[in-house]
Amino acid sequence: MGDLEVHKHVQYIISVEKKKESFEALVMEHLRMNGAYWGLTTLDLLQNITAVDQEEVISWVMSCWDQDSGGFTGTVGHDPHVHYTLSAVQILALFDRLDILDKDKVSSYIARLQNEDGSFSGDIWGEIDTRFSYCAICCLSILHCLDKINVEKAVNYIVSCKNLDGGFGCTAGGESHAGQIFCCVGALSIAGALHHVDRDLLGWWLCERQCKDGGLNGRPEKLADVCYSWWVLSSLVMIDRVHWIDKTKLAMYILSCQDRENGGISDRPDNAVDVFHTYFGVAGLSLMEYPGLKSIDPAFALPVDVVNRIFFKKP
Ligand code: FPP
Repeated sequence: MGDLEVHKHVQYIISVEKKKESFEALVMEHLRMNGAYWGLTTLDLLQNITAVDQEEVISWVMSCWDQDSGGFTGTVGHDPHVHYTLSAVQILALFDRLDILDKDKVSSYIARLQNEDGSFSGDIWGEIDTRFSYCAICCLSILHCLDKINVEKAVNYIVSCKNLDGGFGCTAGGESHAGQIFCCVGALSIAGALHHVDRDLLGWWLCERQCKDGGLNGRPEKLADVCYSWWVLSSLVMIDRVHWIDKTKLAMYILSCQDRENGGISDRPDNAVDVFHTYFGVAGLSLMEYPGLKSIDPAFALPVDVVNRIFFKKP
């Protein structure tokens, strides 16, 4: 099977960052902030964040800050959204530069997105989804500003999206989906409300996501996809049921999705690589304590040393 191609993956991520005119760069332009978070977190997990010019990244991130609303955009000149705002804050946390933020404005932007029933809209256009509850709660926690929202109502809304199978959906009554489960379990974990999760029932649903090839899928009857090495595995870690899957087989599946020539990881063996799957593959291996990688925090989706710095650094 072979090892993780650390050096090739570092080179791949740097090359994607430089190819601003490529097809991939153009179709991904609207979510460049998320792409930057995926790439930079991967580099940090691979212990190679110094491979990028920190000042250049930070000044680009800040050029995506919309002063009027207080939120961040996906790229310069676009509209702000809670997901881009989380990615921007995560990037600044990686570089230990949260001090340059106007925390009051950023947190007020997020607080304004909370609705009467405790749910969150993604932006001013109003779409509601438990993904946005996660983004809001995670981001405000990093900023030490959770008191700006009604956390009890936010938790109650997430709990209203819990299904009979123990999983969670986008909105109340929505089908259980591993990506949404990560968001709901992550948000409940950060809010100190994991007692709302039925760990055995949800653990059973999650461990059944492992397919014969060792990979994980996101819903019953779907094919395995490397990104679920993160969504499923991080949820299993948070509810203390990670020993219910075969970790060796999953690690082998992720390693088999590497492009060993040009770097990067794909969704499944022999497919084209991208930064999203490279991040989730490396993050999954990190959760399984793969040698040579930094440990990642399953709720904040940031390296553990970064999370420790956020919460335990002396002023
Ligand atoms: C699957 O999407 C993933 C989700 C629904 C979760 C998305 C989570 C966020 C936006 C929160 C931020 C995340 C992190 C890591 C900080 P998909 O559209 O690929 O699902 P499909 O496989 O069913 O198409």
